Amino acid sequence: MFPWCFTISAFASDIGNALKRVQGLTFGEEIGQGSICRVYQATCPVSHERFAVKTIPLPKPVCQRAEVLQRAAREAAAARVLSDLVPHPDEIVRHFACVYDEGEDAIKMVMELCRGPCLSKLRSQANSGRIPESRVRKMVAAISRALGHLHDIGLLYVDLKAENVVLDPTEQDPDRVRLVDFDLCRDIPGRHVSSYDEAATAATVIASVDPTASLTISTTKVLVPNGGDDYDNSHINNDNERLWGTAEYLAFEVLQDGAAAYSTASDWWSLGILLYELLYGKAPWSGPSVDVIFHRMMNHRLMFPGPSQGGPQVSTAMQQVIRALLRYLPEMRLGSRGGAREVLAQAALSLQESSGT
Ligand SMILES: Nc1ncnc2c1ncn2[C@@H]1O[C@H](COP(=O)(O)OP(=O)(O)OP(=O)(O)O)[C@@H](O)[C@H]1O
Ligand SMILES: [Mg+2]
Repeated sequence: MFPWCFTISAFASDIGNALKRVQGLTFGEEIGQGSICRVYQATCPVSHERFAVKTIPLPKPVCQRAEVLQRAAREAAAARVLSDLVPHPDEIVRHFACVYDEGEDAIKMVMELCRGPCLSKLRSQANSGRIPESRVRKMVAAISRALGHLHDIGLLYVDLKAENVVLDPTEQDPDRVRLVDFDLCRDIPGRHVSSYDEAATAATVIASVDPTASLTISTTKVLVPNGGDDYDNSHINNDNERLWGTAEYLAFEVLQDGAAAYSTASDWWSLGILLYELLYGKAPWSGPSVDVIFHRMMNHRLMFPGPSQGGPQVSTAMQQVIRALLRYLPEMRLGSRGGAREVLAQAALSLQESSGT
């Protein structure tokens, strides 16, 4: 068992029992997949509780194994910190346990099951590929609060995108959304709260059967453009020079200055991109490589095509929120000084303005 595996007492009394419980679950439909994992619905045959279980098979080659373990360790570390929050933030999916199943040589993360699609799927289910502003407004408030909770405990989220926000409707709130996927979280520079680097180092040491392997182990996910091929930047060995996340969502300053520029402001930038994508059906700047995206960002103004140009009806107030989140200078960006409260206040103003109050 890896030192960063954990369980909360509501799931099992200790790690050994958590593993037994996970092994006793009845696995059902696959509900999602990513670059290194598959997510399944699973049911406890005794209590009939339903869970989502993220299964991360560990590759055999030592370098790949170390990289996967580091990502799992980071996600487990974040999940553990988040699961200790009282009350648990509604906007963040609750993690119950993270165990290593030796028989399958896989890490398994047990979470609350969200009963709807991720926002990327939700968008593609609509004929227009877009989500109406009235729904997006509620979602943006929830996502802002989720980012605010992470920043409050000293974490950058880094990987905000439509695939990582999942609809989990309730009777009272059919548009309730929750944030998932925490393996790219990082400590906010200068605020070391969550022991991230220790977790990642522990994972590397354990994975490094070959003592020379740790010298070349990468600690990052390669950049992945939306729906395209991987951008492989794994030849860069210095962690400070490598970019994490998804190309279309990377903040201007991160593209310009590299990984050292990640900050809470870069998470707010990603929120601006996500909002735009949900409302307009595509990211404002996209392309086959990071360089092309950056070039377009520098040279193409942010456009809001209206109904006469085949675009959606989006209020001026909402456009202003997006503009403020996509300011090139991070210190001028909405959220960079006042955090989630500032974003929520501006989004609430937009709500009032568009409802004419
Ligand atoms: N708790 C959950 N309930 C319902 N669906 C979920 C849940 N967690 C994840 N999913 C679905 O599974 C998909 C993949 O999960 P996740 O984003 O955590 O993995 P990933 O993108 O592969 O992560 P990684 O960055 O580790 O490759 C999500 O996009 C979402 O659709
Ligand atoms: Mg994901």
